[in-house]
Order: sequence, then C-alpha cells, then structure tokens
Amino acid sequence: MRARILVTRQIFPEVVAALRERFDVEHNDDDRLWPAEELSRRLADKHGVLATVMDRIDEAMLANAPQLKVVSNIAVGTNNVDIAACTTRGIRVTNTPVVLNETTADLAFALILASARRIAEGDAMVRRGDWKVAFAMQSPLGTDVHHATLGIIGMGRIGQAIARRALGFDMKIVYSNRNRLPEADEAKLGGATWMAMADLLRTADFVLPMLPYSPAVHHLIGAKEIALMKPTAILINPARGGIVDDTALVEALRANRIAGAGLDVFEGEPQVNPGYFDLANVVLTPHIGSATRATRLAMCETAVANLTAALEGRRPPNLVNLELQ
Ligand code: GLV
Repeated sequence: MRARILVTRQIFPEVVAALRERFDVEHNDDDRLWPAEELSRRLADKHGVLATVMDRIDEAMLANAPQLKVVSNIAVGTNNVDIAACTTRGIRVTNTPVVLNETTADLAFALILASARRIAEGDAMVRRGDWKVAFAMQSPLGTDVHHATLGIIGMGRIGQAIARRALGFDMKIVYSNRNRLPEADEAKLGGATWMAMADLLRTADFVLPMLPYSPAVHHLIGAKEIALMKPTAILINPARGGIVDDTALVEALRANRIAGAGLDVFEGEPQVNPGYFDLANVVLTPHIGSATRATRLAMCETAVANLTAALEGRRPPNLVNLELQ
C-alpha cells in the first residue's frame, strides 16, 4: 500500500511530481490557508504531512489522525507543532535547518540596511513625487551601519551567518547566548564579545533576537528591554513573532524611544499590529527570510527527504524529537 501524504501549501511542481512517484499525495493546489478543522479533516487518514509554520498541529489534530507517522515541517522552526504530543504518539517531527542559514542572514542584513538608511521611506517619497529638493543636506538622514555595534541575542547558525556579513561593514559584534562560543569562533567574528542580554541591549546599535520561539522567550523583548536600548538604536526581528512584544514596540517607536525597527515576523501573522502601519520608522516584510527560489526549493527537498526516511523506517536526517530515533 502506498502511504498517503498531505502537502498543506502549494509547493514546487517538480517536488510534487517526485512525491507522487512514491506516495498518494493530496496537495493544496490553490494555496488557500486551511482553517484548523479543514486541516484536521484532510490529515485524518494520512501517514505523513509536509507542513509549514502556518499550520498549527496540536494534540486534538493528532488524536484525529491515528495513522500519522511523520510531521515534516518545511521550516527550521517547529513551534507550530506540539512536539511533546507527537513524541508520545511516536510521530516523528522534522525540520529543514542549515539550507536556509545564508538566505535568512541576507534578509536580516537587508532589514538592517533598509531601516538604518530609510530605504522604504525613500522609495515611497520618490514614487509620491515628494522629492522636492535634490540632495537636501538634512533630509532624510539615516544611521551608519559601518563601524556600528551589532548585538545578536542567540548566536546559533543564522546569528553567526549575520555576524560574518557584519565583518564586511567593519562592525563590532556583541552577542548574548546561553553558552559562550569557543574563542577561536569569536576570533573569526572579529573578536565577538559575549555579554549578558541587558548589557547587549545597552551597548548595541542594532539588536537582533535570533532565537527559536518557545514559551520561555515569549516577549523576550518588551517595554523593559526596549527601555535599555540606546535612543539611536534599531531593533530587527527576523526570527519569530512573539519574541518581540509588538504592542510595546509600537509604543516605543511612536514615542521615538528608539530610532527604528525592521521586522519580518509578527505575533499572530498574517495579522499585523496595525499600530505599525502609520509609523515611518519601521520597515515591514511578510516573513520572507528564506524566500528565494533556490532556498525554498532546497527546504522542500530536505522536507521530502525527511518524510521519506520516516515513512521507510529510516532515521530522518533532521529529526527534532530525538527521543524517537
Ligand atoms: C521560517 O520561519 C522557518 O522557521 O524556517
């Protein structure tokens, strides 16, 4: 019997074709985001699912899918999946790390540059015909990225990829992380300095939380933390909605308590706190950290390799619930 697979979003035709050679595939052809009840109904008779960060796979859904063996997330983050419930039921959870590191670091750097140099504002100004005086000396003025201090909270693979880019801008790197990096790695990052998060917030010109989401880091950056930042500093979030308290950030940006922000992720996306919309000092992108063709394709291929291994009784290359082996 061929295993039955659910693909919750529209993915690349060549990946679907490869899946169909092995499995019976139900694919989301129109890329509509299925509401929870519909996702649960479609999942009920499946052996495997290729899911995305927008699919909440919870205990109730698993209880309704007794044949499910693997949840293969097309993402590095897995906070959309109840991993403990999967483990209890013997369902393997997998992700797609590494293949998206460089592309996500590029986007983080794009947000740094765009917010510091007011790229979106400038673009809108030219399009609106509001560019009245060529080469005005004082408007619009931005912030220098070169030689500034970059503060990374959570110095994992993507954090380090961002730091490597910063070297090209002669930036000083400070980071906070549960564990200090080996000295040799700090040296490769221009002598990156490990410090407590509060010190980093006081020191950095650009603050980037680069952690996976878990309840432990919910609103890690809230009003109290923003208050520690320099008034000239910029907050960038390319990681996950919910790590930054959007309400507190809107308030701080409105009061110009910090200079700006660049955000790719939001609490409750695709809903976005509307407070951001009338603020000029924030650049907003729609969760596109990994969104290049090459990287999204590599993520889909990795997710298929994980799913296939799990369904063939092999250990998936990127198993998240390691207890299951
Ligand atoms: C995207 O947000 C991912 O976790 O890969």
